[in-house]
Amino acid sequence: MRRSWFNKLHIILGIRRPSLSWLFVCFVSLIALILVLGSSRNVVDPVPLRGVPASLIYTSHGRVKEQAAVDYLELRAVEKGVSGGQGELGLCGKERENFVPCYNVSANLLAGFKDGHEFDRHCELLVEQERCLVRPPKEYKIPLRWPTGRDIIWSGNVKITKNQFLSSGSMTKRLMLLEDNQFAFQSEDGLIYDGVKDYSHQIAEMIGLGSDTEFPQAGVRTILDINCGFGSFGAHLLSLKVMAVCIAAYEATGSQVQLSLERGLPAMLGNFIARQLPYPSLSYDMVHCAECGIIWDEEDGMFLIEIDRVLQPGGYFVLTLPTVRPHESSLRLKKRNMLMPIEELTEQLCWTILAQQDETFIWQKTADVDCYAFRKKNSIPLCKEGDNAEAYYQPLVSCISGTSSKRWIAIQNRSSGSELSSDELRTNGVQPEDYFEDLEVWRSALKNYWSLLTPLIFSDHPKRPGDEDPLPPFNMLRNVMDMSSKYGGLNTALLEEKKSVWVMNVVPAKASNSLPLILDRGFVGVMHDWCEPFPTYPRTYDLLHANGLLSHLASERCSMINLFLEMDRILRPEGWVILSDNVGAIEMARTLAAQVSWEARLIDLQNGSDQRLLVCQKPFLKK
Ligand SMILES: *[C@@H]1O[C@H](CO)[C@@H](O)[C@H](O)[C@H]1NC(C)=O
Ligand SMILES: *[C@@H]1O[C@H](CO)[C@@H](O)[C@H](O)[C@H]1NC(C)=O
Ligand SMILES: *[C@@H]1O[C@H](CO)[C@@H](O)[C@H](O)[C@H]1NC(C)=O
Repeated sequence: MRRSWFNKLHIILGIRRPSLSWLFVCFVSLIALILVLGSSRNVVDPVPLRGVPASLIYTSHGRVKEQAAVDYLELRAVEKGVSGGQGELGLCGKERENFVPCYNVSANLLAGFKDGHEFDRHCELLVEQERCLVRPPKEYKIPLRWPTGRDIIWSGNVKITKNQFLSSGSMTKRLMLLEDNQFAFQSEDGLIYDGVKDYSHQIAEMIGLGSDTEFPQAGVRTILDINCGFGSFGAHLLSLKVMAVCIAAYEATGSQVQLSLERGLPAMLGNFIARQLPYPSLSYDMVHCAECGIIWDEEDGMFLIEIDRVLQPGGYFVLTLPTVRPHESSLRLKKRNMLMPIEELTEQLCWTILAQQDETFIWQKTADVDCYAFRKKNSIPLCKEGDNAEAYYQPLVSCISGTSSKRWIAIQNRSSGSELSSDELRTNGVQPEDYFEDLEVWRSALKNYWSLLTPLIFSDHPKRPGDEDPLPPFNMLRNVMDMSSKYGGLNTALLEEKKSVWVMNVVPAKASNSLPLILDRGFVGVMHDWCEPFPTYPRTYDLLHANGLLSHLASERCSMINLFLEMDRILRPEGWVILSDNVGAIEMARTLAAQVSWEARLIDLQNGSDQRLLVCQKPFLKK
């Protein structure tokens, strides 16, 4: 079976290529020269390529021509020493070990942001800095495999202060030192049992279910968990086939996002300050805030309006306030003062309170659009058509979104499972035929990719693993990012193959917006402009995959080397990159991969198209 895949593929060129015979050099150069002179009409100029004149990059039709051009570029690259080592970028200093661009508070303050806005994401202030590779901490170790890695992490891999560690104690934020160099979280088998299960069960009962295992049948498949602690609630929900995504503000140490991702749980940076989250309206079935520290009635209720925007019709908002001890009467008063304005806001938003138990309150968003017409005068207005354009980090609005959307369907009335019906696909503006065709492509592509994730691919005699070799991949593979997801096809294929991974489906900001569809399937997804850094910590993904992204970005303003540095930053040591694109873009990628010191190998799919794969692995640099 695997053999036949091997035969189909032909690995043409590696970076570590043995020296070429002179005859071959002359021959190829001659052909390339003829091509350069003879077909200037075909010359495209995708991206300026370092060391190689842009006019030499081809995306021509004939395979022979392409091959010649590719070889020619290879030679040029060798000649310029690009792939030889001289072009490689150095490591950054130790101070950048946990570097997250766009969250530099002192720079934000200097630029005049204040009153909390200095903690917001400000990529517009990014200045061109020394180009260098973010290095891992000295004690860094490759994370343990899933599911062990969910419950036990290496303490040297995350940045946490002694005080933060000692004060960790609330339900979702509990961890203990297992050994000198390991943190342990509570686990399913009761290693450190701490009530997350009871809590989840309580929420299920409060919305009228017999047990939390019924969440998916009740339409709750995706949950946005605001300030998730260390993700223990999300870890429990994942075991119930509910996808919980953690968002939390940037924290220099003890970050909830860094710890969650280290455990292999979906998370990204996001906050409630001035701008919308990079999700479309009607995205999540439940939003959860347990002691999440957000003051919901601040800013004229715009934070709560933002929650309403991302909530699906019929979805739930779960708010758990800090426990009040009997002697803390001032806190009790503060809490009452906080809840009153919320109650007024929720009424205006057409949310009804379903239940209150202990410190937990649950509201349900209306599934009935007519509800808004029956509110008091001067209630929060509905957004106008067009206000709803799903934009990227737009300012928060004070109107209600999504009410005129075709996607307004109560979660209780949706088809369950991640497969969408033809009607649901059409609602999302997608032709079912396109969708199923895309899925088929991904099913076969995945089989193909998986066996490429092996160091064997980089040897001088590249081969796919045979029956006698261990199964790839050889390192931890849990957090996957599809940098240019269309319908979530790679995600589907991975699920069908029962791989124990989750996928961050990134829809490029300027691509056609298929994000609602991805989210409606119960997958994790986000909108992102790849000319900017991704809102995550260094070393948080095991595999980055990008299909057609490079040629898509070629027409935009951003720097390709900065994109590769960013990919390198968010990749774990020994993590993988799979790039799929046309010959020109892949050639450029090879040069860049060499600069960021990745092992890289070019794969020709041999199906007559000009598509190529570049499989790369980030080394574990211990310096
Ligand atoms: C943050 O901004 C300050 C002021 O502009 C600058 O000196 C510093 O180097 C920046 N820090 C990082 C990590 O980029
Ligand atoms: C679900 O659909 C049924 C029939 O189409 C409708 O009567 C019912 O009101 C819907 N439920 C919700 C919560 O919208
Ligand atoms: C060749 O394979 C690639 C990747 O699977 C695919 O995108 C492309 O459409 C195929 N081309 C042809 C001509 O079949």
